[in-house]
This record gives sequence, structure tokens and C-alpha cells, in this order.
Amino acid sequence: MAIELLTGKEIEKMKAANRIVAEALEYLKDLVKPGATAWDLEMAVRDWLKRTYPKANPAFYGYRGYPAYLCVSVNEEVVHGIPRKERILKEGDIVSIDFGVELDGYYGDSAKTFKVGEVSKSIEKLLEGTEKALYAAIAEAYPGNNLENLSKVIYKTLRKYHLHPICKYGGHGIGRKLHMEPFVANCPGVGPKMKLQPGMVLAIEPMAGLKTSKTKELSDGWTVITWNRTPAAHFEHTVAITEKGPLILSKLD
Ligand code: MF3
Ligand code: CO
Repeated sequence: MAIELLTGKEIEKMKAANRIVAEALEYLKDLVKPGATAWDLEMAVRDWLKRTYPKANPAFYGYRGYPAYLCVSVNEEVVHGIPRKERILKEGDIVSIDFGVELDGYYGDSAKTFKVGEVSKSIEKLLEGTEKALYAAIAEAYPGNNLENLSKVIYKTLRKYHLHPICKYGGHGIGRKLHMEPFVANCPGVGPKMKLQPGMVLAIEPMAGLKTSKTKELSDGWTVITWNRTPAAHFEHTVAITEKGPLILSKLD
């Protein structure tokens, strides 16, 4: 199992691709409001990307036949929600938006769960705990640490918030392809154990259910929902492991 290590120059290219993703999520954030549909977000990002970064390509569109630029996962949808016109956002909903691009041969990938207006206390905790789990894992992404410690801290953080870690899906290596080795598990004992090295780039993506960790896939072949249709959240960053420690590539500053 060979993990590709990227050079400093390549990390710069990863940064450029990931910056576009970060900007797109920032742009989409303002469009998340009651009455908007998942398809509106898809249309908006298509237009935005063409206008703003004509050289960038959508990473998900056409990937194993995936039909959209975005994954838009509302409430009980955990990940890989195909944006639909019929899915209308309403006050109190949550919506996870996942976006990826390829620029100059390198990939960016990031996701965030947004609130639609005001949400309940328990939903606030769901978002807070899942985002905390992401940042706790990022803090462990330094050379010499074991990959499994990222999974452990994701799991522990989610449990501390009484959330239900989703072990079936997880993060991945990323670079000159969207999905590369290693699998970055959200639960210990699931993914490979290996020492992290400078030049590795990981998409770390904790997912959690408010009431359950059990999921099922819809007949569209993509959309993953919780089996009992209770809400779930998802946060993802692309992170480079450098000699100086973790470097979040998919953020604005
Ligand atoms: N960030 C998601 C992932 O890494 C998005 C993939 S959607 C797909 O799994 F269409 F590209 F598969
Ligand atoms: Co990803």
C-alpha cells in the first residue's frame, strides 16, 4: 500500500484547488435559506465556478457517474445527497454541502453542515460536536503520529457530545485523484494503522447522527440517510501533513 507523498510545490497546487472549494462554500452559505431548494444551490455553484474559476473542474460530476457538482444532504441525509428541485429547505433544517474541484491536476474537497435559520438546541449540539471532532482530528495530523489516532479522537469527541459516529463512511487520501489511500476512518479499528509523514494529504470527514449511526442508501444509488430518518451532520477539510504540523488547505485564510 503505497501512499503518495506530495512535494511543497504540489501542496501549493493543492492549496489553490482547495481555496476554490472554500470560497464556493462561503458563497453558498448565503444562499442557504428557507425556500431555497437543493437544486438552486447546485445551479448557483455551476454558474459561480464558470464565472469565477473557469479553469477549475468539478471533482464529483461524472465521478463513478455522480450527476452533480455538489452533494447536498438535508437533515436525515448523511452524505452524497443528490441535489433535487423537490428538496425545499425550511427553517430549522440543516444542510450539508460537500464540494470538490480539480485545478491543474490537483484536487480540493471540503464540506460543512449549515443551519437553515434557527435550529433546535439538540441540532446545535450535533453541529458543534461534529465540527469539534473534525478540528480534534486535524490537531492529530502531524508527522510521526498514527493515522488511527485521528479516528480515535473523532470517535471520542462525538461520544462526548452523545452523538453517534458513522463508521461506514469516512475520509481519504487526496492529491492527483479525489479518492486515494489511506481510508481515514471515523471510528478506531476500521481503517489502516500507519505513521503519518510530511507530504501526506488527507480529507478528514467526520459524520455523526443525532440518534443513530445506522445508515442506508437510497435507490438513487448515492444518497445515504440514517435508517430511522433522524438528522446527521458532516464536516470535512483537506489537510496537509507538514514538518510544522497540520496545514488546513480548504480554508480561506
Ligand atoms: N467528499 C465526498 C467524499 O469524499 C464527496 C464524494 S461525492 C462523489 O466521499 F460523487 F464524488 F463520490
Ligand atoms: Co471527501
